[in-house]
Amino acid sequence: MGFRYYYADRIREKMPGFRGTDEELQAAIDDLSLLYNSAIRVLETRLDILSDDFDKKHSHKPIHHIQSRLKTFDSIMEKSARYGIEDPLNNLDTVRREILDIAGIRVVCNYEEDLTTMAGLLHAQEDIEIIKVKDYTDKPKESGYRSMHVVVAVPVYLVNKKKMIPVEIQFRSVMMDAWASLEHELRYKNKGSLPQEIVDYLKGCAETLHKVDEQMSRVRHEVLKDDNKYSDY
Ligand code: GTP
Ligand code: MG
Repeated sequence: MGFRYYYADRIREKMPGFRGTDEELQAAIDDLSLLYNSAIRVLETRLDILSDDFDKKHSHKPIHHIQSRLKTFDSIMEKSARYGIEDPLNNLDTVRREILDIAGIRVVCNYEEDLTTMAGLLHAQEDIEIIKVKDYTDKPKESGYRSMHVVVAVPVYLVNKKKMIPVEIQFRSVMMDAWASLEHELRYKNKGSLPQEIVDYLKGCAETLHKVDEQMSRVRHEVLKDDNKYSDY
């Protein structure tokens, strides 16, 4: 991992309160990015393998694509403050315990039912811990947002120890992801909020896309019924 994601001198410029040397701050930061980047790589690989094996066994790839991101250091500090963590820069252990989406993976699946398939297959892996589940698929958020959020802890093996690192996974169908990306972009372009009329309209769009998800699923099962190739599925 030869790259540096966060720089101590730049962080110190913005947040001057760290009680240690620049070297200590840089070491803590490098530790953080190595651990969380590694957790993302471990989990991405496991998800890819599951999707490939599922395809081999059932002639269907549950995953359409995967996106990952590491939260920026500024954003970790900002969220820590929002969560009431006092002096987060000097309490990185607390930050790591409380902020569960430092590493984030978005698993975009082909069909709605693939979300539970993938979440279930991951859950079945004995060295993965499920920390938190928020299911917005049946009960969407007020905005219309649908997705299944699962925070898991994955083992990262270092030279002399094993660390369990939390990663927030957002399981979405292609439709759920399309809606969330566009809604996010619209809100972002409008400085974080949207007029109520637009909010209501977007909620209607989310419901329409949910219906499309259900229809595509029905069509799929109609096709599978007539196809012997899928008879074991
Ligand atoms: P955070 O402090 O934002 O992490 O809130 P939380 O811990 O309650 O998590 P929540 O379950 O609300 O999920 C947060 C993440 O889900 C966000 O970072 C977005 O990626 C996504 N999300 C949640 N609600 C919406 C929404 O209404 N629109 C879009 N586009 N994304 C959403
Ligand atoms: Mg979040």
